[in-house]
Amino acid sequence: MTMSAEQSYVLEDSGVLRFPEGFVWGAATAAYQIEGAAREDGRGPSIWDTFSRTPGKVHAGHTGDVACDHYHRYPDDVRLMGDLGLHAYRFSISWPRIQPDGTGPANPRGLDFYDRLVDELHGTGVTPIVTLYHWDLPQPLEDRGGWTNRETAERFAEYAAIVHARLGDRVETWTTLNEPWCSAFLGYASGIHAPGRSEPGLGFAATHHLLLGHGLAVKALRAAGAGRIGITLNLAPVLGDDAEAASIVDGLQNRIFLDPVLRGEYPADVVERAGRFTDWSFVEDGDLEIISQPVDLLGVNYYHPQTVAARPGEPANPVYPGSEGIAFPRPDVPRTAMGWPVQPFGLTDLLVRLSRDYPGTPLIITENGAAFDDVLEDGRVHDAGRVSYLDGHLRAAHAAIEAGADLRGYLVWSLLDNFEWAEGYDKRFGVVHVDYATQNRTPKDSALWYRDVVRRNGL
Ligand code: FCB
Repeated sequence: MTMSAEQSYVLEDSGVLRFPEGFVWGAATAAYQIEGAAREDGRGPSIWDTFSRTPGKVHAGHTGDVACDHYHRYPDDVRLMGDLGLHAYRFSISWPRIQPDGTGPANPRGLDFYDRLVDELHGTGVTPIVTLYHWDLPQPLEDRGGWTNRETAERFAEYAAIVHARLGDRVETWTTLNEPWCSAFLGYASGIHAPGRSEPGLGFAATHHLLLGHGLAVKALRAAGAGRIGITLNLAPVLGDDAEAASIVDGLQNRIFLDPVLRGEYPADVVERAGRFTDWSFVEDGDLEIISQPVDLLGVNYYHPQTVAARPGEPANPVYPGSEGIAFPRPDVPRTAMGWPVQPFGLTDLLVRLSRDYPGTPLIITENGAAFDDVLEDGRVHDAGRVSYLDGHLRAAHAAIEAGADLRGYLVWSLLDNFEWAEGYDKRFGVVHVDYATQNRTPKDSALWYRDVVRRNGL
């Protein structure tokens, strides 16, 4: 992933929109969403095992017990990646497979699985990109307060070191956390995700301990000689005419993570406004130095912008504590099966802004994609809506590169249809269709289209 900004990515005479040489193309997944084998080889329970078993929390009571059975079918799935010509595969490690109690010595059988997976990837010419935490906290740690407890940050760094000790000779790129906003504000402030707690103040405590865990893990990984280290954030441009409303939501969605990691400080306006929910006494001397150690890349997950409007009397949106008086109107644009607006320009805006406001950190899109109501018919899935979504977002990413954004790669979400958290298996994000009754995999039209994009390094 080395290249200079001057390399050519122009619209060539052939009409092909080319990405910079060395641009990394890949796909992403996460452990709990695809692995299954929830009780095998010594894996302990995670907060998602508990949450998905709590009535009313996940669509139709779905769980990740079996999911895509990737734990057993990984050789087939890696073969699929090879067929698509992917350069890289981003997957997450299940912490409760490695430390069933969230602490103490490693469970060797858990590590063995990722060892085999990494070897299989290398054997197929696919570069592994490891995410250490994609939301499946060991339940015993949650029982001691989870991310509201400072100790969880220390446990996370120990776990990171254990995984690196086993895989570090074959894995160069590491990301610590996936989307800490979701862990903190969906998990602890609004109760939409595991562990399902819903107190605004806990959202801020969890944010800080997640970030501290990130910083401690960066230190541990650096000390162990890790190649390239980053963090993945779910970021969204905030649109709307009311500058104050937009700034409040931007603070809670974006700056509360970007500023501590990349500038070593919490945004003053966010700290002040959150004062009704917390006194921030969980921030100890030296924490921000730990949190802001240099990272080698920033992972960006982008799905859609947020549109806001000032509307007096509007109750707070629980995922944004303190957002009273702010409405979230639905822009009149096409939507995905999630109800998310399709607004690719938001990706250009976001990448350009990151390069401007937080210069010097290379960017990689660690997730982008869409759910649609796919139909499998005669062995094909004609997912024109997904192809159009991806095409639009790749054009938007390309425009950002032309405007100077230092974007190094793109990982589509997701390789496979999978357990979409609170939506269960109802929402399909894969470029490859999964028939959950037979576990048959069928590349959708979007997978075949993406294979050509990768082959041409462009559109
Ligand atoms: C992101 C998650 C990922 C997936 C997509 C659709 O927030 O990181 O696991 O669920 O959304």
